Amino acid sequence: MNFKTIPFEKGQFLIGSLLPYSKDRLGFLLNLQKKHSGAFKVKIGPKKVTVLSDPKYVKFVMQTGHKSFVKKTNFDMFFGRSLFTANGQEWKRQRKLLMPLMNLRYLETCLGVFESISKENIANYMSSGKNGSDLRTLFSKITFDIILKTVIGIDYRQNYEFLDQAITTLTHFVTKDKYRFFPLPEFLDREKREFNDALKTLNDLIYKSLETAKSSSEDFSFISQLLEYKKQNPEENINEDFIRDNIVTVMFAGYETTAMTFSFIAEMLAYSPKIQEELIKEIRSFDKEFSVENLKDTPILDAVISETMRLYPAGWAFTRVASEDVIAEDIEIKKEDIVLISPYLLGRNEKLHPDANVFKPFRFLDDSVNRDAYMPFGMGPRTCSGANFAILELKVVLITLLREYKFESCGDKCQVDARATLFSKNGFNIKLIRNS
Ligand code: HEM
Repeated sequence: MNFKTIPFEKGQFLIGSLLPYSKDRLGFLLNLQKKHSGAFKVKIGPKKVTVLSDPKYVKFVMQTGHKSFVKKTNFDMFFGRSLFTANGQEWKRQRKLLMPLMNLRYLETCLGVFESISKENIANYMSSGKNGSDLRTLFSKITFDIILKTVIGIDYRQNYEFLDQAITTLTHFVTKDKYRFFPLPEFLDREKREFNDALKTLNDLIYKSLETAKSSSEDFSFISQLLEYKKQNPEENINEDFIRDNIVTVMFAGYETTAMTFSFIAEMLAYSPKIQEELIKEIRSFDKEFSVENLKDTPILDAVISETMRLYPAGWAFTRVASEDVIAEDIEIKKEDIVLISPYLLGRNEKLHPDANVFKPFRFLDDSVNRDAYMPFGMGPRTCSGANFAILELKVVLITLLREYKFESCGDKCQVDARATLFSKNGFNIKLIRNS
């Protein structure tokens, strides 16, 4: 069989395209996607990466042929062996064990927490004099408090500052190109030592919370559920490291991703006043209690969230490594090849989404969107295990906020860049204005 040759952008001697990639990851990859549709190879530092931007190849890697690929990520430096980082049988066991814990009853209990934490934080924010500065700080605080309360079940108020700092240090370290491609020995590496300190802060808090959760009977948190499951199923051999690794994972996976999604939604609405008006009308007529069932009744809000996630998928890219030689449709992927899949590139591809760069939520209402090229939560057996949690959180917080306020721009538009998640280099210059 004749395979298509995958075009290769060699870049410079030794370092390949490390410099343009590190300077502007998104712009660099978007340009290459325009130049070579389908698939292309780039060399970043010493590593060669095959970028797949045709949905048929993406589907192969994520779904049909997923057994020929493994996930290898630097995040195991602090996630350990969790659902996010494990492979093969270990991943299967964890998925089977953990997914049922995100059940309807747990999610229903979380809804009240989403609402009360939003109300408390919005009131504090409005009286703090910070309104009109970076709105991300409000969403980060809400998201963080929610994660601590629903996942760990601890008093979130005291822990925000140092935990936020610890998580930022950890994630920036593992996603810096210089560490990924040219690791330094530890004694020369100040940032590695800061990483270790941050890891210790996080571990201390989690092990302390585990002790507290063991003696508390009414807590509904994810930790408590895991402990209960462990008690009921001793044959599963769930040890404290397993619990620690998955708690850290959920804390990270459910924090910055959701906070950034909130911020991008606010930015989109602030620059689309007509859509914001229609959304507020829908929200004002939503006078039901928050329940998973009732929250199905907000089509414009759903469309706004989905369209924002098409344009700004917080988990903008992830990789897989081929565990054997494999034929993906009409291209050949060799054992050990790294493939990169990017929900951001798929969402911005003009061939797959007409007016790809324009915010048009109604494409989700008339279902004209190309679903094969839309995957902000991933695809196939490893799709995001927290997607329902995240969507419900986004909905409850936005309804609570937009019942009283609307978003208005008060400065420059956000300048998007990519680290572990998508973020804005100049923050989010959006102000909350009381609804008339
Ligand atoms: C808007 C918010 C979120 C976005 C955009 C997002 C995105 C993603 C994506 C793209 C993946 C797939 C990664 C891959 O295939 O390599 C993923 C996996 C995962 N996410 Fe999320 N996520 C979000 C929120 C959450 C939340 C709230 C939680 C937990 C409460 C969570 C937990 C996880 C876990 C554990 C995995 C690994 C699943 C597996 O490999 O089986 N995420 N997420």
